[in-house]
Amino acid sequence: SDSKIAPTQSVGPEYQPESKKPTATVSTPVDFENVTVLPQTPQLIALLSIIRNRDTQRGDFVFYSNRIIRLLVEEGLNHLPTVEHTVTTPVGRPYEGLSFQGKICGVSIMRAGEAMEQGLRECCRSVRIGKILIQRDEETSQPKLFYDKLPDDIASRWVLLLDPMFATGGSAIMAVEVLKSRGVPEERIFFLNVLASPEGIKNFVSKFPKVRVVSAFVDAGLDEKNYIIPGLGDFGDRYYTR
Ligand code: PRP
Ligand code: URA
Repeated sequence: SDSKIAPTQSVGPEYQPESKKPTATVSTPVDFENVTVLPQTPQLIALLSIIRNRDTQRGDFVFYSNRIIRLLVEEGLNHLPTVEHTVTTPVGRPYEGLSFQGKICGVSIMRAGEAMEQGLRECCRSVRIGKILIQRDEETSQPKLFYDKLPDDIASRWVLLLDPMFATGGSAIMAVEVLKSRGVPEERIFFLNVLASPEGIKNFVSKFPKVRVVSAFVDAGLDEKNYIIPGLGDFGDRYYTR
């Protein structure tokens, strides 16, 4: 019967005080004013441990990367400007709160960036979304622009640029150049990504010091094929086709 199962066997490890918590590799420190890295909480590290594992199958990869993407979107939205906004509660009392100001849109760098659209829609109902198709050449890692379709009034919006992988930074730099050519000022662009490399960040920030970057994790570096290491492999393949 159930009474034979000792409570400690069914609930897993005991509660762990701060001094007994397990350790894990956390994000590489970066020191740029406009780069925000998500807090390295046990939840985030455990989610990243699932999606980095090469044995994780597509269903789990999609589910757990969606959870990380949701955290990134919530953090990105925190950087939008707000104004004071007082409301009256059902018991007739005022609450001195805030409301968002300004219009936003999402822009995904296809194909992997499209995986981040759902997380944005969950937070911002009926948000407009533009697309930029940029592909890295598999031999040279150089990005190539194939297509873009952006909202006509993008110059008067805050833009959340979406791409989970920020490796050399070449694709993101090309995307920001497209946005700037349509009149979006750098300071109104937020680039949300799951994994960044220190090289990519340095390269990008030296070109666009005013674009805000929000990353879940900054990895150790890039390998000889310009894949992020330790990384998670090819995000687009793992999310869509593998
Ligand atoms: C991957 C990834 C980024 C880019 C990052 O896309 O999704 O867009 O590479 O690398 P970078 O920072 O060195 O430019 P890829 O071109 O492989 O296309 P995909 O999204 O279709 O997989
Ligand atoms: N694109 C990916 O999907 N993964 C990398 O590690 C680098 C670029």
